[in-house]
Amino acid sequence: MLRHLLDIDDLSAEELADVLDRAEVASPPQVLAGRGVALLFEKPSNRTRLSMELAVVQLGGHPVSLRNEEVGIDTRETAEDLGRVFSEFCALIGGRVFEHAKLVRMAAAATVPVVNLLSDDAHPVQILADLLTMRQRLGSLVGRSLAYVGDGNNVCRSLMLGAARAGVEMRVATPAGYEPPADGVSLLTNNPAEAVAGADAVYTDVWASMGQEADAARRRADFAGFTVDDDLMAGTAPGALFLHCLPAHRGEEVAASVIDGPQSAVWQQAANRMHAQRGLVLWLLSQ
Ligand code: CP
Ligand code: NVA
Repeated sequence: MLRHLLDIDDLSAEELADVLDRAEVASPPQVLAGRGVALLFEKPSNRTRLSMELAVVQLGGHPVSLRNEEVGIDTRETAEDLGRVFSEFCALIGGRVFEHAKLVRMAAAATVPVVNLLSDDAHPVQILADLLTMRQRLGSLVGRSLAYVGDGNNVCRSLMLGAARAGVEMRVATPAGYEPPADGVSLLTNNPAEAVAGADAVYTDVWASMGQEADAARRRADFAGFTVDDDLMAGTAPGALFLHCLPAHRGEEVAASVIDGPQSAVWQQAANRMHAQRGLVLWLLSQ
């Protein structure tokens, strides 16, 4: 059956665990041998493009990354037509877009799996790597606690959905006006210290996401007091992890001493992007 990953709750709890298990398969089958994968980027990317291209190569396939300047989603041709044409050439489609609805429309017309590589609403492939990292470093996910401190945006929202699926207790602290929807979160607060108290992991993301650069100065003022620094980390459980999807801005959402310090798992987390996406592709092509 054709399956897509537009947000992390497209996977059941069992399917999510299966994807994470497949991420750790040492010699993956060459399920993409001789086949192409189209990766369309409407926004910049470092980790996602590299990790997705290399995951495809590790499965024997050929990734083709396209910038939207060349393709023109909904300007040169519709999202639906792109989904139809990519499906003729490729075994799988990845898309990074501003407007989430464009991916939904592309997926509705595609006859191969479509994977969200980040939209304004969601970042599910990031969350696969985040949960894999927590599982590797903490030994298990069920009953662990994760505190997100910062903007209640795409990463935070998908993390909440992924945590709920994985049995992770999620707390979120944002400034007033930057809250995510409250569903599924055990604590939603404007007080970072309250969110991180006794937490097994602390996660943050940039204060101004891609497309919000013009708003950066106002956001820096609004997010004052939300830097993940040593004082904040002191309130966590012993051995707690620091996580960040990257790119990071030291001195804004995270202190250099934390991201570059002993509790930081961010490089393992970045490396896991490739492993988690390889597991996802294996799972999608097995459906
Ligand atoms: N974390 C992440 O998605 O990074 P890029 O924007 O560099 O792909
Ligand atoms: N929230 C960030 C995540 C980058 C990986 C953004 O959307 O730019």
